[in-house]
Amino acid sequence: MHSLSDIVGLYEERFDTQPLLVRACGRINIIGEHTDYNDGFVLPAAVDKYIYFAIGENGTEDCHLYAADIKQSHSFNIKKIEPGEKLWANYLMGIMQQLQNQGVLLEGVDCVFGGNLPIGSGLSSSAALECGFAAGLNTLFQMEIGLVELAQLAQRSSHQFVGIPCGIMDQFASLLGRGGQAIKLDCRSLEYEYIPLELGDYELVLINTKVHHELASSEYPVRVRECREGVAILQQFYPEVASLRDATMEMLAAHRAEFPEVIYKRCAYVIQENGRLEEATISLKNGNMQRLGELLYATHDGLRDEYEVSCPELDFLVDFARKFDGVVGARLMGGGFGGCTLNLVSKEAKEKFLREVTKAYFRQFGIHSEYYFVRPVDGTALVREE
Ligand code: GLA
Repeated sequence: MHSLSDIVGLYEERFDTQPLLVRACGRINIIGEHTDYNDGFVLPAAVDKYIYFAIGENGTEDCHLYAADIKQSHSFNIKKIEPGEKLWANYLMGIMQQLQNQGVLLEGVDCVFGGNLPIGSGLSSSAALECGFAAGLNTLFQMEIGLVELAQLAQRSSHQFVGIPCGIMDQFASLLGRGGQAIKLDCRSLEYEYIPLELGDYELVLINTKVHHELASSEYPVRVRECREGVAILQQFYPEVASLRDATMEMLAAHRAEFPEVIYKRCAYVIQENGRLEEATISLKNGNMQRLGELLYATHDGLRDEYEVSCPELDFLVDFARKFDGVVGARLMGGGFGGCTLNLVSKEAKEKFLREVTKAYFRQFGIHSEYYFVRPVDGTALVREE
């Protein structure tokens, strides 16, 4: 856990230049999970969990990076950028390489970063890493790349350098978030609309299972492939279906016999999740928290049974929430296989719920969970030290 001034202090201990300061955001997603790489819709928000960057040009061809939260450093030459063993460094080097691919002439930089964004917990610390560094370089080298383009660049870096076939939700939310709002994003056209996140007597609370199963990284590309397989089957009958975004439950049902069971389930989940998102957006606009909550539970069920990306720890937290008066909705958030649940809880029940759920979770798994209250904030931006 580091504050902005800690990061500045650590930079000054190591380097002589005056750094630029960037605050990169984590993200939550209200609903619309595993829909982004299917050209569908998502409803994320940037939140007040941050990675702070101090970053300065050093006039050489070398970059020196220091990850304060885990006390690791990494140096590399900008003419010889290759993926290495440190995943966090790959996220940063990938951004540098993407900028070079665009023909931008970069110099070496010194960079220290760290903050209070939990790592590997489904709050997308990796997108915050990419986006904070990209935003810093964008300013430092006066490239004037727009935010949407920067999000696309970061996503390309994940694909090509880090090797994760992610959608665009995380990078988009981290960069384009806005205070008090969620972003309804069309992942095909990248058109977006801000939706006020006004929850009345309710609040969003994240509960961190503190587990991160290996399957998270191995199963993600499998899901991406399974969805493509589903599209290929549908295209034999409906050539206009370019992605699951274009498919309907009627199309799927009409050709059920052509689908392997697993592929059918994956497709059904994605199609229904896009539908749930539409309804959730309306519920949010109408202040109907009960309905919004029901949709969150339905998403969890779909992720557990049809998409099969849940795990016992996540299911336990959601089942506990379901039985608790005052919690109207809960679901696993992000890619799955660990990380956080998102809970829509009445302000009145909040404390009791958190006390009891963390106790029950510890009894069941022997793990101390953590919880976070999060607020939608403006996305990744330059900051000054106060
Ligand atoms: C991860 C990916 C996102 C998205 C979610 C699931 O966070 O990075 O692009 O696919 O999983 O909704």
